[in-house]
Amino acid sequence: MRRSIRTLTIVTSAIIAFAAFYGIRQDAQIIPKTAEPAKQGMPEVIILAKDSKFGTVTFNHVKHNSGEYTVDGPIRCTECHHVSQPASEVAKHPPLKTVWPADRKTTLTMELFSTDPKGAAVAKCHDCHARKGETPKLLPAIPELKDPGSTTITTLTNQLAFHQACDSCHFQIKINRPDSKVPDATVCTSCHKRS
Ligand code: HEC
Ligand code: HEC
Ligand code: HEC
Ligand code: HEC
Repeated sequence: MRRSIRTLTIVTSAIIAFAAFYGIRQDAQIIPKTAEPAKQGMPEVIILAKDSKFGTVTFNHVKHNSGEYTVDGPIRCTECHHVSQPASEVAKHPPLKTVWPADRKTTLTMELFSTDPKGAAVAKCHDCHARKGETPKLLPAIPELKDPGSTTITTLTNQLAFHQACDSCHFQIKINRPDSKVPDATVCTSCHKRS
């Protein structure tokens, strides 16, 4: 019973979303392109490591999430935004277990974000993975993980969390596609540029 009500709600909101999208699409012929609903609030290029002595990192967010850059297929939002999925999904990818907001029911996708950017509730990595010595905005402390098979605790500062997220994928791509232009984790200047 619950299930069918939920299905109905999903179908209904899909129709409303389609109608809203279609309506705005027609308007888009006369309004600037940047006002397209799908792009609202979606950062295209993000300058990271703003305060790093190694230099800033220019990250092309849209090339990474629009299907232009691929792994086996398009890169899913949750590859990076790991807290933006329900707890039951995240539990399939240990050591991950945290979701945000805590009662999250939706998985972040381009479709979800396009129809309801606010409801998609995207939290910044920095709001949890703060710089060393700083208190994150969304958590009482910077997340920690116990290394498997040892007692070592790793504090997932911005530096560690971003490096791990970016490098693990680039490394895998380099193995499968030696001619790709992915940055090399050991060549700091392949990402960090001093202007
Ligand atoms: C390859 C990694 C990666 C993928 C894939 C990715 N993102 Fe992001 N996204 C980031 C990073 C990094 C930031 C910047 C976070 C920060 O500043 O702490 C970000 C920021 C954002 C922001 C801005 C948040 C804010 O409040 O400033 C939104 C919205 C967003 N992403 C949506 C998406 C959606 C929707 C998808 C899938 C279609 C997606 N992202 C896929 C890495 C990614
Ligand atoms: C709401 C807080 C929160 C946000 C937002 C967040 N993380 Fe995390 N992250 C965590 C926590 C907590 C852990 C430890 C594992 C767990 O509890 O799920 C973690 C773990 C990780 C890990 C280690 C995973 C592993 O397999 O060892 C990486 C890498 C990571 N986060 C990168 C990111 C990136 C990149 C972003 C942004 C696109 C991000 N995180 C956004 C809280 C967050
Ligand atoms: C899930 C896979 C994946 C993740 C995660 C990922 N990348 Fe990439 N990255 C790619 C692919 C694929 C390419 C393009 C390779 C090609 O065109 O040959 C790429 C290319 C790049 C490039 C070179 C081209 C350009 O756009 O300037 C930079 C720089 C880069 N990534 C930065 C980052 C940063 C910073 C992060 C972490 C916040 C990140 N990437 C996370 C898959 C990924
Ligand atoms: C795949 C791209 C990439 C490569 C390669 C890379 N980094 Fe980073 N680095 C980042 C990103 C993204 C951040 C997180 C920036 C942020 O917090 O905004 C970061 C953060 C850092 C920070 C912390 C900055 C701060 O002030 O908070 C240091 C230090 C750092 N990197 C050093 C290095 C060194 C040394 C190397 C080479 C061994 C290296 N990085 C290679 C992308 C990269």
